[in-house]
Amino acid sequence: MAYVPAGRKASDVPPGTMKIAVVMGTFILLANVNGQIHATSNVCPHAGAALNYGRLDGPEVECALHGAVFDVTDGEVIVGPAPYGLDSYPVKVEDDEVLVDLG
Ligand code: FES
Repeated sequence: MAYVPAGRKASDVPPGTMKIAVVMGTFILLANVNGQIHATSNVCPHAGAALNYGRLDGPEVECALHGAVFDVTDGEVIVGPAPYGLDSYPVKVEDDEVLVDLG
C-alpha cells in the first residue's frame, strides 16, 4: 500500500507524548520516542483498551487497564497479559505532516 496522511502534524506529537489518529477508519497510536514518531494499532490485544490512555515511558507504552506493556517501535509485547503484540506501521514525516503506511 502507500503512505497516507494521519491527520496529525509531527509538531503536535512532541518527544515523550502520544496521540491517537484515525487512518482509513483504523485507530492508530502515534508515539514520539526521542524525536522519532512511531505508529502502532491503538487497541490493546488483551481486552481492547485504547492505548492512548496509557502511559509512555521511552519506547514502552503501558496499557491503562491491566498493565500490559508494548514496545511502540515494533509493537512487541514486553509485559503481559496481552497475548500478542500490536500492529506496527511505517511512518514518515513530510513538511511536518505525519504519513503512515497501513500495508
Ligand atoms: S486491556 Fe490492556 S492489559 Fe488488559
